[in-house]
Formats: sequence, structure tokens, C-alpha cells
Amino acid sequence: MSFGVLEGVRKEFLRPGRSVPLAAIEEASFAFEKGELVSLLGPSGCGKTTLLRIIAGLIAKTGGSVRIRGEEVDAPHPDFGFVFQTPNLMPWRNVLENVLFPMEILRRSDGAAKRRALALLEMTGLAEFELARPHQLSGGMQQRVALCRALVHEPALLLMDEPFGALDELTRMEMNDLLLDIRARTQATVVFVTHSIAEAVYLSDQVLVFSRRPARIVEQIRVSLPYPRSAATRYSGAFTALEHRASRALGVLREPAHAT
Ligand SMILES: Nc1ncnc2c1ncn2[C@@H]1O[C@H](COP(=O)(O)OP(=O)(O)OP(=O)(O)O)[C@@H](O)[C@H]1O
Ligand SMILES: [Mg+2]
Repeated sequence: MSFGVLEGVRKEFLRPGRSVPLAAIEEASFAFEKGELVSLLGPSGCGKTTLLRIIAGLIAKTGGSVRIRGEEVDAPHPDFGFVFQTPNLMPWRNVLENVLFPMEILRRSDGAAKRRALALLEMTGLAEFELARPHQLSGGMQQRVALCRALVHEPALLLMDEPFGALDELTRMEMNDLLLDIRARTQATVVFVTHSIAEAVYLSDQVLVFSRRPARIVEQIRVSLPYPRSAATRYSGAFTALEHRASRALGVLREPAHAT
């Protein structure tokens, strides 16, 4: 049995004052294994965030099923971590307090939690910033804090919604390597939303390409490029061939090198 299985997931949003609901997801069925990194790649507004929130149990689906480790997801699970498109840090808390927030909710803020938070800050290059406030950090640093916050309770499933979309290209590539490094160390399973073709191919074991809204999967691409991946990976012929395949599936004729 796969770690995650979606079958016939469908989502319609009711619209106030309109009799016809808005179809966000027409049909999504796919599976992923423990430890896999799977990207959801699709155009803006196609329904990626909606699908990720359904997998997280944050919003209800209209039809179909989502099972993680065999259990139907219908509410947020403490074993999930979520990284949003924007860092959403609490401005009045320092970095360490922000990272520890989920542990407070889970009533697990003890010495071990603090040690783990500090280890994550170290791993993400923020060791000297644990007492800083969010406004004293760059955008990339804030997003690294958000990543530490999502990882502090050691989630089995990490759900990431275009976490690096607002970053400059160099920082984004560094964050990609950081994510792969963390994934290798924690063995976390990751579902990653992006509309960057290069980012999806670079990170993933599996790329699911979505149509315009209402979303359905138009192509499923297995990425068997070896890990660890590096700058050399990006210039290999195999990488380019995968980018072209994803571009064709998206309906992009001339590929924008690094779509944001
Ligand atoms: N709570 C909601 N109520 C009504 N409609 C919604 C709601 N959330 C999303 N939608 C609609 O669902 C569609 C898909 O939105 P979604 O945010 O999932 O797209 P997306 O693929 O994540 O886009 P982007 O890449 O721009 O983030 C959009 O048309 C949006 O207006
Ligand atoms: Mg979105």
C-alpha cells in the first residue's frame, strides 16, 4: 500500500449569490510512496493550493478520497507540516519562539523541543538569529524560519505551497538544495506545489502536471535523476528532456527558463 493515495478527488466552491458552484478540481487521482518528493505543477489559479489544503485536511473535498498511511484525511493531522506561500511569522515573537509555536499547540514544548528547534535553525543557516524578530530578516531567511517551524514536530508528511516562489533565483536554488538535504536527513515525504518547471524537475521523484482550472492531471512524470542533485544536474541532457516534457504537458511552446 502506498503512503499517500488520492482517488477521484473533486472540489467545487459554492459562490454566494450564484447558483452554479465554481469547479476548482475536476479529478485528481495519484499515489506516492514514503520518502518520495512529489510536485504538483500547474498554471496559476488551476487549483493547486486547493488540492494541497485538501490533502492537509484544512478544507473539505466535494468528492473522492485522500488516504495517508491508509487513513482517510478529514482534519489536520499532527503528523503533517505545512509551509505556506508567505512565511506568516508572528511579528511579536522572535525566531526561536516562532519555530516552537507548533510545539506549544501540541503541548510538547520541553527541552527536547528547544534543542530540535535550535538544531533546525543551525541546519538552515540561522543559528545566530534565534533571538531576532521577523522584520529583521530577509525574505529568504523568513521562509527558512517557516520551514523550521513546519519541521519542528518531525512531521511524516511535509506539505509545501510554492514556498520559494517569492525568492530571487539564486536564493531559490539554495533553498531547493536545503530542502533536498533536509529531506535526505529526515526521510520526510513531501508534496510540493510550484509553477516553476525547473524547480519541479530538480526536486522531485514524481511531477504531476495539472491542466488549467478545473484541475486534472494531464501528465505524470517519473524523475529518475540520481540524488544528490547539484548544479551539474540542471545542465544535463536528461534534465532538459524532462523540462521539455513538462513544458509540452503545460502547453508552453517556448519554455520560460525559470517561470515564477
Ligand atoms: N475559499 C474559496 N472560495 C471560493 N473559491 C475559491 C476558494 N479558494 C480558491 N478558490 C478558487 O479556486 C480556484 C483555484 O484556486 P487555487 O488557490 O487552488 O489555485 P492555485 O493553483 O493555487 O493558483 P496560484 O498558482 O495562483 O496560487 C480559483 O479560481 C479560486 O478563485
Ligand atoms: Mg496557490
